[in-house]
Amino acid sequence: MKILSIETSCDETGISILDCKGGLKKPSFEILANSISSQVKIHAPYGGVFPALAKREHIKNLPILLEKVLAKSKIKKINLIAVTSGPGLEPALWTGIVFAKELALKWNVPLIPVNHMEGHIISVFGKNKGEFSIPKISLPALSLLVSGGHTELVLVNNWGKYKVIGETLDDAAGEAFDKVARMLGLPYPGGPEISKLAEKARQGMPLATCQGHPLALPRPMKYSKDFDFSFSGLKTAVLYLIKKIGLLDEKTKMAIAMEFENAVVETLIHKTKKAIEKYGIQTLIVAGGVSANKYLRTEVKRNFKNIKILFPEQKLSTDNSIMIGMVGYMKYLKNKGKVPRPSSIKAEGNLHF
Ligand code: KG4
Ligand code: ZN
Repeated sequence: MKILSIETSCDETGISILDCKGGLKKPSFEILANSISSQVKIHAPYGGVFPALAKREHIKNLPILLEKVLAKSKIKKINLIAVTSGPGLEPALWTGIVFAKELALKWNVPLIPVNHMEGHIISVFGKNKGEFSIPKISLPALSLLVSGGHTELVLVNNWGKYKVIGETLDDAAGEAFDKVARMLGLPYPGGPEISKLAEKARQGMPLATCQGHPLALPRPMKYSKDFDFSFSGLKTAVLYLIKKIGLLDEKTKMAIAMEFENAVVETLIHKTKKAIEKYGIQTLIVAGGVSANKYLRTEVKRNFKNIKILFPEQKLSTDNSIMIGMVGYMKYLKNKGKVPRPSSIKAEGNLHF
């Protein structure tokens, strides 16, 4: 079946057309067309995503992307539309939902709502081009989801059956990367920028101090008994350190970036390790925008040598509509073709598993 999928939860507008085959035991996919439009440059001056601007850009981009994917795929008939319904920025989510509802009505096809975070989980099996299928994996799997809005550890008992066992109590990991980058005068999105600086610092000698000040940031909640995280205190610690130092030289920026990245990665790995041990996990999925982080990938591989680790392709780490189409198909199969009434589908900014 041919699925048209739409993603507008944050600052990327995405539309794809996937040819989906097979049952739940071995679903397979072919990317017939995929188009994405990033708003990063538009939001950069604000140091984060500006919801009203995101909404305006999605509304502008959606018809353009639709035309592109229809032309590229040469598909005349779509069988199902999948759209992200949450979590995310509600004004942004609504643009995709309204657009999807109009198309569903016009083409007389069913419409299925998709949880964006479920999309990130499934993204580890996706490809940006060509054909692929979802292999059988050892369950329950553990998913470490790290994005701009979320940081959570989720047990995957089966496709569509998830349990959140830990999450951030304040800022998400990606959000902390973005905020610290801003403090260091780096552009938005901050994750890749911090990562580049930290890598440079790691290539040189480790720096224990910067401009005469000790360089030791906290690892918040590392030793708490639960699987939760907290990144807000770490961000504040960076702010105080910067205030104490005053004008930052390039070397100091590199040192702070490295120590900050070390602190985030160390806490993520520590809690993930505890969860792996407690639940006897054989498959670890690491996904969401921050999963693109090189140091996190290296440390995950170094720490968990005896289990299967799945990361998304670099291009599918951040938001995209391919993962939304994949979940849409799985959900359609699971529900045996039943979909909700389009009028009941709404944007849910805080949608949970
Ligand atoms: O999943 P995503 O594209 O959007 C949300 O659903 O939030 O994640 C975006 C987040 C941003 O905070 C961005 O700074 C972060 O992912 N990110 C990174 C890297 N690439 C993107 N963080 C750390 N290192 C990276 N290489
Ligand atoms: Zn996302």
